[in-house]
Amino acid sequence: MSEPSITIRPEAADDAAAIERLHERTFGPGRLAKTAYRIREGAGHRLELSFTARIGTLMIGSVRLTPVRIGTAKALLLGPLTVEPPFRARGIGQALIARALAEAKAKGHQLVVLVGDEPYYARNGFKRIPKGRAVMPGPVDPARVLVCELSAGAFANVSGPIRPDRDAQ
Ligand SMILES: CC(C)(COP(=O)(O)OP(=O)(O)OC[C@H]1O[C@@H](n2cnc3c(N)ncnc32)[C@H](O)[C@@H]1OP(=O)(O)O)[C@@H](O)C(=O)NCCC(=O)NCCS
Repeated sequence: MSEPSITIRPEAADDAAAIERLHERTFGPGRLAKTAYRIREGAGHRLELSFTARIGTLMIGSVRLTPVRIGTAKALLLGPLTVEPPFRARGIGQALIARALAEAKAKGHQLVVLVGDEPYYARNGFKRIPKGRAVMPGPVDPARVLVCELSAGAFANVSGPIRPDRDAQ
């Protein structure tokens, strides 16, 4: 029998509880104290730029994008990215990132930042931000602050603190 296919679709409002459980299982209560979490709490993620992966009706992964500013420049913060352990190493994480980036680009966004492992995210075009150029509002390892330019040179003249963009349209 062939494996059921995996679908990726925009997050729906009623996915929130299942995604919260996924985050709790993956990251535990420590997630609530993370700097990136506090930014996300400040602005709220965009459903139309956030995606879930499913097998049938079973949710097996999620990625979210949240509007931020780096200095005065508009950007999106990617995360959390989570795939349920039995379904890892099948390309689902990469597919979720690729879909979120494609949708953000299609909607005219130029920059996506995140806090994560460069060796993993480099596959989707993320690069380390030079230390001090974009500063998270709390403790993070600067080597894990990464940016992806959705249009060439979009990060060239950008610098400053990263903060939630509460007024993003
Ligand atoms: C990170 C995560 C989302 C990857 O999802 P996934 O669906 O397994 O990823 P993919 O199948 O697209 O990619 C798997 C590949 O990435 C590699 N990889 C996974 N996590 C990595 C990391 N932190 N650093 C470097 N490589 C990593 C795997 O070894 C695998 O390599 P291979 O293709 O050479 O075999 C998943 O492992 C997860 O949910 N982890 C816990 C939560 C987490 O750490 N999230 C990221 C921070 S928000």
